[in-house]
Amino acid sequence: MRIATTLFATLALVASTVIAAPENKHGHKNNGPIVINKKVLKTSSVPFIPHTGTALFTNWVGLNVDYKYIQPIFQKVNTTASLGNGTLISRGESHITIITPPEYDTILSKVGMTIHELNALATKNNRLQRAHFDIECLGRVQTVTQPDNVFQQSVQLIVKNYKDIVAYRTDVFKLFVKKGGNPALFAAENFQPHITLGFKNRDLFVEDGIFKGKNACIHKVQLK
Ligand SMILES: *[C@@H]1O[C@H](CO)[C@@H](O)[C@H](O)[C@H]1NC(C)=O
Ligand SMILES: *[C@@H]1O[C@H](CO)[C@@H](O)[C@H](O)[C@H]1NC(C)=O
Repeated sequence: MRIATTLFATLALVASTVIAAPENKHGHKNNGPIVINKKVLKTSSVPFIPHTGTALFTNWVGLNVDYKYIQPIFQKVNTTASLGNGTLISRGESHITIITPPEYDTILSKVGMTIHELNALATKNNRLQRAHFDIECLGRVQTVTQPDNVFQQSVQLIVKNYKDIVAYRTDVFKLFVKKGGNPALFAAENFQPHITLGFKNRDLFVEDGIFKGKNACIHKVQLK
C-alpha cells in the first residue's frame, strides 16, 4: 500500500512537471515545412551497427540512419530561435532505437536473451535496416527532470508507418516468451520510434514521463 502511494505520488510529480511545448507566437508555420531529403528513408544502404557492452545501458538495438541527411536538419533546428535557439547538443550520428537499454537490461536479458540473439534477428536478410518507415513531423519534448530540477528539452523526428519494425519487435516478444519470459512485461507495439536530433543538457526518455509520439509534433516536415 505504501509502495503504491509512493509510486502514485511520483507519477503525479512527473505529470505536473511535464511542460507542454508552447505555441510559437511568431508563427514558424509561415516558414513552411522543414524539407528533408527522402533518401533518409533508404536505410538499407547504411550498415547495421551493433551496440553491445558489459555495463548497464550499453546493450540496445538501433536502426542506423544516414547522418548526412540528418545533420542539415539538426543545423536548421539549432539555429532557429523558435526551435533549438542554439542550445542543442548533437551526438553526431542518427538512429532509431528499436530495443531500448532498459528493455534489454531489465526485461529481455533476465530470461537469458543475449544482445547477439537480438542482433542476429535484426540482421537476418538485413531485415531491420530494410524496414520501411516514414516521418511524421519535427517533435520536441520538454520537462523539468527530478530530482535535479533542471529544465530539459529534446528535439527529434517522429517516425510513423513502421509496421516492419513492430514485426521485428513481435519476433523478439515471441523469443522472450519462448524462453519463459512473462508476456506482461514486453509489448511489441509499446515504443515510440524517433530520430533524435539534439537536446539541451541531456536526452529525455519515457522514464522521465515524456512521450515522443504525434503528441510531440511542433513543426511540419516534407520529404523531397
Ligand atoms: C534564444 O537564446 C538567446 C541567447 O541565449 C536568448 O536571449 C533568447 O531569449 C532565446 N530565445 C528564445 C526564443 O528562446
Ligand atoms: C548549436 O548552436 C550554437 C549557437 O550557434 C553553437 O554554439 C553550437 O555549437 C551548436 N551545436 C552544435 C552541436 O553544432
